[in-house]
Amino acid sequence: MTLPMVVPDAELPKRVLIYEVGPRDGLQNEQTVVPVEVKVELVERLVAAGLKIVEATSFVHPKWVPQLADAEELLARVDHRGATPMPVLVPNERGLDRALAAGVQHIAIFGSATESFAQRNLNRSLEEQFAMFEPTVARARQEGMDVRAYVSMCFGDPWEGQVPIDQVVDVGRRLLDLGCYQLSLGDTTGVGTTGHVTALLDAFNAAGVGDELLAMHFHDTYGQALANAYAALRHGVTTFDASAGGLGGCPYAESATGNLATEDLVWMLNGLGVETGVDLTSLVGTSRWLAGHLGRPSPSRVVNALG
Ligand code: HMG
Ligand code: MG
Repeated sequence: MTLPMVVPDAELPKRVLIYEVGPRDGLQNEQTVVPVEVKVELVERLVAAGLKIVEATSFVHPKWVPQLADAEELLARVDHRGATPMPVLVPNERGLDRALAAGVQHIAIFGSATESFAQRNLNRSLEEQFAMFEPTVARARQEGMDVRAYVSMCFGDPWEGQVPIDQVVDVGRRLLDLGCYQLSLGDTTGVGTTGHVTALLDAFNAAGVGDELLAMHFHDTYGQALANAYAALRHGVTTFDASAGGLGGCPYAESATGNLATEDLVWMLNGLGVETGVDLTSLVGTSRWLAGHLGRPSPSRVVNALG
């Protein structure tokens, strides 16, 4: 297989953790419900390809996201208590009850930086979302779970337009203060650009939140995801969310398309000599296999170039 020439950059981190969101962010946006057998095989193939963390599914209301209504069945069939953490999205205490019943150890809450998206995605106001998350995180922590927090619409919102950086930092800090170990900054509709990434990270740092507490979650709607990841990498971020084959989007966010493709990220990091532990050949094979099930080619440039 063709591989990029490795030209290491001493100023970059030596290793990056890829937080794979394909089975969750990727499949939540499909028009059709993917059979649970295919989901099980997808998760297992991603682990076999060397992904160190694989977000498996969501314990959200099945009427809101029917694509992931089989969360219990999926978790009964994959080894989510093994060496590879398999977090699940949990919005509230009802979701936490379901996660606890399934023996889950890692969850992620998902907040919004804007009022409009909090209403549309969570049926709560910006302020009310914290009242929903607070008891959820407190109980999850008492149960010994790891809790990650997402913030959506960090770089812009389709209903509100520009989102003030201070507002994003305020929401992010409040979510971290609930007891979350990491904040994933979401560019839900992919409108961010590199200078914006740097400015947002600078603002978090100035508010006492270092890059080691942050992950970046880019969508590629405007073709900026990889450039934005590079800007964050240069800044010092070492955890990146990505989706195998570039699938993904949010059913409640207008104009949200695919996530940064894991293969495209791995290709860039390979060229920079940054370790990920991911076997690109195996991952590309998995995305091509999944594209066959979904009935359309992967949007990832690397998957297509190597296919
Ligand atoms: P609600 O309708 O306000 O819920 O929805 P409620 O609290 O009023 O409860 C109503 C009924 O739903 C009750 O049942 C609850 O038990 C039940 P009843 O008593 O009437 O029989 N219920 C549930 N059932 C199963 N699982 C649950 C659950 N919760 C309540 N967890 C809710 C509020 C948060 C549940 C709803 O808005 C929801 O499920 N939203 C999820 C939307 C979603 O999944 N969006 C995609 C993920 S976010 C994303 O993609 C962005 C991200 O990738 C980052 C980025 O890109 O920016 C993370
Ligand atoms: Mg997303």
